Amino acid sequence: MRTQKLRALAAVAVFAVSLFATSAAYAAVEAAKASITFDAQSKVFRLDAAGVSYAFGINDRNELQPLYWGARLAASDALPPAHTFPDHASFDLTQTTTPQEFAGWGAGLYVEPALKLTFPDGNRDLVLHYVSHQTTGNALIVSMKDVQRDILVALKYEIDPATGILGRSAVIENRTKDAVVLEQAAAATWTLPSDKNYTLFYLTGRWAGETQLQREAIHEGARVLESRRGSTGHQNNPWFAIERGVGGDEDSGDVWFGALAWSGSWRITVEEDQLERVKVTGGFNPFDFGYTLAAGAQLATPVFYGGYTHEGMGEASRILHRFELTTILPQAPAPKPRPVIYNSWEATEMNVDEPGQVALAEKAASIGVERFVMDDGWFGQRKTDHAGLGDWYVNPDKFPHGLKPLIDKVHGLGMDFGLWVEPEMVNPDSDLYRKHPDWVIHFTGRPRTEGRTQMVLNLARPDVREYVLGFLDKLLSENQIAFLKWDYNRNWSEPGWPAVGNAEQKQLYVKYTQNLYGILAELRAKHPGVEIESCSGGGGRVDLGILHYTDEVWPSDNTDPFDRLSIQNGYTYAYTPGAMMAWVTDSPNWANRRTTSLEYRMLSSMQGGLGIGANLNKWQAEDFATAKRLIAAYKSVRETVQHGSLYRLISPVGGSEQSVTESVSPDKSQAVVFAFLHSSSLLYPYPTIRLRGLDAAAEYRLDWIEGKAAQPVPASASGAFWMSHGVDALLFGDFQAAGFTLTQVSGKGK
Ligand code: DGJ
Repeated sequence: MRTQKLRALAAVAVFAVSLFATSAAYAAVEAAKASITFDAQSKVFRLDAAGVSYAFGINDRNELQPLYWGARLAASDALPPAHTFPDHASFDLTQTTTPQEFAGWGAGLYVEPALKLTFPDGNRDLVLHYVSHQTTGNALIVSMKDVQRDILVALKYEIDPATGILGRSAVIENRTKDAVVLEQAAAATWTLPSDKNYTLFYLTGRWAGETQLQREAIHEGARVLESRRGSTGHQNNPWFAIERGVGGDEDSGDVWFGALAWSGSWRITVEEDQLERVKVTGGFNPFDFGYTLAAGAQLATPVFYGGYTHEGMGEASRILHRFELTTILPQAPAPKPRPVIYNSWEATEMNVDEPGQVALAEKAASIGVERFVMDDGWFGQRKTDHAGLGDWYVNPDKFPHGLKPLIDKVHGLGMDFGLWVEPEMVNPDSDLYRKHPDWVIHFTGRPRTEGRTQMVLNLARPDVREYVLGFLDKLLSENQIAFLKWDYNRNWSEPGWPAVGNAEQKQLYVKYTQNLYGILAELRAKHPGVEIESCSGGGGRVDLGILHYTDEVWPSDNTDPFDRLSIQNGYTYAYTPGAMMAWVTDSPNWANRRTTSLEYRMLSSMQGGLGIGANLNKWQAEDFATAKRLIAAYKSVRETVQHGSLYRLISPVGGSEQSVTESVSPDKSQAVVFAFLHSSSLLYPYPTIRLRGLDAAAEYRLDWIEGKAAQPVPASASGAFWMSHGVDALLFGDFQAAGFTLTQVSGKGK
């Protein structure tokens, strides 16, 4: 699907070139073209798109060797051919000093391999050499083979014309007569230009404390980012960025970044080798991997996307956001904006029933909510988290006439209807588990660890896949459901699959996730109007793999609006605000008892897809009025917030008292600013907010969504004025927020 989209884009670009031979449009189209070349004489492959060039060559030993990844080079620039590096004494032989695109573990290799395997005769030596290549559209496929045995690897490189983001993956094929065991299988190794001075950025966290931005200087040795949990995990997220120098500059500096499209156990190793070369290898997590590849079988790795910019961390994020919106998300290249939702979870938890949900729906509709989502508790014998998961029938006590009356009511109120499901889990206290105790991931005869009193269904099993797809298909066919919140509330334990032979058991790590993607793809195909959210106890499954099948994600169960600022900030380094849901819930917040105003909570959530998750039964008239006013304001800016260019003007990282974001619409006709103050002290003034990304020559009008200026400002002024002079917002006290828009009143956009 993605390939088709890229091909279609390329076809449009080539067609357009012939139409706009000499105009400015020609330059834009030219920039959006990708090119893939191979110079037969120098044996250099080169991929160019947007501001990026990537090159590798075939060296004198017939290995694939990285040559260049960075700013776009002139088409006429000839890259010097690949050449093997000499031994560094007898301890570091040429096989380990010469960088490789995709190294097999063999010969004298000590750096991180991409592929490591064991043959049945005990041989564990794998040396991959170039065989052939072919180009199709924006993709290049290069075939490699072990120097002796019939283990083949097809490396795929696919470049996005608009962003220069390169997708790299590998298909490993066993053409020998016997099964081999893959102990390590990466998608790609990225090699950075030689430099001693790099800073690594990555995201860590925990349940209710996801996507915290970390930074550290890269030194010799390896930094491992990973999940061993069976799914993406809250602990690390499969994204990295490396900036040349001390880093952290939003607006300038060389940044290389990447994200792995995989929702199972994964690993990214950032390694500075003994010769101070920095490489990043990512793919399946080798921990407990041991994938048996039968004779004649293939294994495709996930895709590892990588990009480059010389315009700092801010532009690195904007490139990723653009790429996700136009290429990754299921509705790419033009995803619909996220509707304003109401979610029942924090209001009712599992105590849902028809009258209670109807009462909430009426109140939600009155403030402008567009989608009403009933969360956990509507099915099976679900009263607490001790029972019900697996039994996907509507609970007759709570909904005696099924879901239809509630759904009809929601539709009558002008909203569409969404429903919570957790398809991959089962409570031991359920009819499903009583009938199929063997359907969960487990080892025969061993204790089965429960988490939240539930176990993980083995989605790798064909019968489980069929069951899950079957009940979801039925649910969507029998009810007018526009949206599924797909939850996943624990990680794996005892990762066994006794129904298959010992040799195949560990295929669970791959087949589970493949089947998850397969179910999502089939559901979407059968029910094309249905949107899906990926939730895993908050942000435990946010990655470019799941985002290919889900329209949005729930970044955290922590709905405290102040904590959310750093969670949302970290999230935006890797993922578009266009897929990030954010709810306004009750104050004091359950997570930390912090008390904040409704205005503060609303503005914090307006930085993504806005949701309301408060108990509306407790709201006063003024709360409804405030929410109604701010939801209306949000609807007039959401396209810009969700699909525009994000500038992190002041980051909340490192205990900053302030935090400011700005989003600019693609045509620069609107900018939206949200500014937050944690607490004033020592009479420090709030910093002047200087905007970015406006059209300097155009005239923009200032309108306040919330708050006001601290110093007099003109009602309208040039983009240059707002970017250089800026705005002083009146913010003092604790947990204060302001928001304003700049709307172009004259200029190119008008
Ligand atoms: C975890 C989710 O993140 C929450 O939003 C809620 O849906 C609960 N699960 C329901 O059990």
